[in-house]
Amino acid sequence: MSLVRVSTGVPGLDEALGGGLEMGRSVLVAGGPGTGKSILTWHFLFEGVREGEAGVLLSLDQDEDMIRRDMTRLGMSVDSAVESGLLTLLCGDLRVVPREGGYEYLIAFDHPLMQEQPLTIPRLADLVTRRAKEVNARRIVVDGIGPLLELAGSSFEIRQLVYSFIRSLASCGTTVMLTHELRTIPGAVNDEMPFFIVDGVIRLDMVYRTGDYIRTLRIVKMRGIEHVMRPIMFKVTSEGIIVFPDTKIPD
Ligand SMILES: Nc1ncnc2c1ncn2[C@@H]1O[C@H](COP(=O)(O)OP(=O)(O)OP(=O)(O)O)[C@@H](O)[C@H]1O
Ligand SMILES: [Mg+2]
Repeated sequence: MSLVRVSTGVPGLDEALGGGLEMGRSVLVAGGPGTGKSILTWHFLFEGVREGEAGVLLSLDQDEDMIRRDMTRLGMSVDSAVESGLLTLLCGDLRVVPREGGYEYLIAFDHPLMQEQPLTIPRLADLVTRRAKEVNARRIVVDGIGPLLELAGSSFEIRQLVYSFIRSLASCGTTVMLTHELRTIPGAVNDEMPFFIVDGVIRLDMVYRTGDYIRTLRIVKMRGIEHVMRPIMFKVTSEGIIVFPDTKIPD
């Protein structure tokens, strides 16, 4: 079957992927704090806006005002994208509420679509897919799957619930990008499990070389696609991410 490509909105990255992501697949962008995960997903969404393809951003770790401000600062026209219906922002956060001698996790949203509680993972997937269908979204981003992992509990449940969540979002040819924060101290139980339930993984890092930190990106896996294996250098500038696919990273 022929491969239908979707641009990531980051030119050098499309090149490293041999022409972009495959439509209808799920890709996890994983990295430590401040490595550029959110900005990369915004490029992906705004590339959709540029091409007239609707997108939905489900953010579980930043509030809407802050997202809008940061996008605008990077030259992304968020207000017109939202007004035109090409971009939907659904922003929620994980809250801990006391319950019968213990605690329970809840994801709370200000958005009128997302008021129903308790918001289990299947319920959340249902609300997001409903909105995605309404606007005929071709691109969905889930920024910060950490809260979903907290909600899911054990590894077995994570695999089942988060896997079904991703599958339900990626149905009907919608391409899904997720982000996952890797802790600086490796070895946390849930850290690498999500790597196995997605079609692709792009890992962002900051490495110390000759007196400064360099940002690197590595395509860890991408099912069905032949891609560059070596780490690639990139920068975050006032216009967002710029990738340098041909620059060698110093040893
Ligand atoms: N206008 C800009 N110019 C240069 N660098 C910037 C600019 N805006 C953001 N950055 C860099 O990008 C980083 C934030 O990127 P981003 O929010 O995508 O990271 P993240 O991996 O999503 O972080 P978190 O783990 O906190 O969610 C900042 O820490 C800063 O280093
Ligand atoms: Mg982020």
